[in-house]
Amino acid sequence: MSEVINIIVDGENYEAQEGSLLIDLLIKNKIKVPYFCYHESLGPDGNCRMCMVEIEGQKRPQIACDTFVKEGMEVRSNTQNIKSLRTDILELELINHPVDCPVCDQAGECSLQDFYMDYGLHNSKVTIQDKVKHDKAVDLGSNVMLDQERCVLCARCTRFTDKITGTHELGIIGRGDNAKVSTMPGRKLSNAYAMNVVDLCPVGALTSKDFRFSQRVWFLQTAESVCHGCAKGCNIYIDHNKPKYKDDVMYRFRPRRNDAVNGFFMCDEGRLSYKELQENRQERALLNGEDISQEEAIQKAKETIKKFYGNICIILDANLYTQEIEAIIKFAKTIGTNVCSPQEIYQDEDFKDDMLKSANRAANSKTIEKLHVYTGKPRSDGLIINFNHPGEFSAQSQINFFTHKRNNAGLTLPTATWNESSGTLTNEDGIEQKCEQAIHKNNPVPTVIEYLQRLQS
Ligand code: SF4
Ligand code: SF4
Ligand code: FES
Repeated sequence: MSEVINIIVDGENYEAQEGSLLIDLLIKNKIKVPYFCYHESLGPDGNCRMCMVEIEGQKRPQIACDTFVKEGMEVRSNTQNIKSLRTDILELELINHPVDCPVCDQAGECSLQDFYMDYGLHNSKVTIQDKVKHDKAVDLGSNVMLDQERCVLCARCTRFTDKITGTHELGIIGRGDNAKVSTMPGRKLSNAYAMNVVDLCPVGALTSKDFRFSQRVWFLQTAESVCHGCAKGCNIYIDHNKPKYKDDVMYRFRPRRNDAVNGFFMCDEGRLSYKELQENRQERALLNGEDISQEEAIQKAKETIKKFYGNICIILDANLYTQEIEAIIKFAKTIGTNVCSPQEIYQDEDFKDDMLKSANRAANSKTIEKLHVYTGKPRSDGLIINFNHPGEFSAQSQINFFTHKRNNAGLTLPTATWNESSGTLTNEDGIEQKCEQAIHKNNPVPTVIEYLQRLQS
């Protein structure tokens, strides 16, 4: 255990762990410090020089990202000298920058824009015609687009492929004005976590082919949730937008930091899973393929349950929220049956890796285990009530609560997806995590809990 030491920043006292980085203390205490190259997941690189501060006893300003705190250290982060130093460095950064913010997808979440408003606002001595041109819209692979002119050469992306994925697809080639990020000769960016470089890039040099130009970020609302792609349960932000008179639409998932689960990252498959979540939705109640009203469907479900009493099996999806699983178990008791959740279908060894991805493709299997839900095949061929389990089952009669369209006989009731309701999941390591409701549809379909209430009323 390292010792707690005291340091002074801008006249205020702070405590820090001995041997920790000064920049971490500044970030943690929300003391304004501009930086491009430092990232908590990648460590210091010291190349951008934006994070300069004055330290008592040092002749020249020092970079906070590569300075360890020491007992009694006195730091000044906002003197006139430091401010003009930051302005000068920004001016260098912007010499060859195309300043195409109006058409840049990063506008609104760009560090260069933010720092320019804080420290820039200078008149450039370089005209657009004098600037060194580089390639724009280079497809690096894995849904990542590169605009070399916007790059500040912070090397976060190259360090990600070196230190985090170990795949080494990216490097900085050339010298001086001609230095640029590129894929290695004959290679494409190609790894299961490649799109994280888009989040890491502090400017609009790396953008997502999937998201770019689909929305201006200031129109998006954000909900905090958990990816349902596997049992790891990576924490995510769901960015969505509901324009006036139109429906709520998701535009992207982004990783949300949780050091106990996913750190700063998520896999690309999980990131892009928002698409199929909102495609091909089951929106109407069906009886043997024909539309029926919600009221008729509920009535029919009640009659069928009565008819098969004593010969019913309830099957549930291991992606349901804990609250839904508990409510279904309670409901099962009222109709004299048990529940099961066959787990074999969720096993996917090809998906698994040693970074985040789990072979278990269900987000809440741990709760199935904790609540001792039977995980074998259904033990009744009378009536099957399926709460969105992905398996195919045969029985004399079926009531299906489905979120997405599937080939199915019997009665089908359209059901809300996980992002249209809220609840709790327990990941494979036993960590309980909350998911906020992100999407509010104009004509929402009922949630599992709402259906259970209607069936018992
Ligand atoms: S592309 Fe982005 S992350 Fe990579 S070096 Fe340039 S600015 Fe940094
Ligand atoms: S590792 Fe699993 S939980 Fe994490 S983003 Fe990928 S699919 Fe989602
Ligand atoms: S963040 Fe310190 S030099 Fe770049």
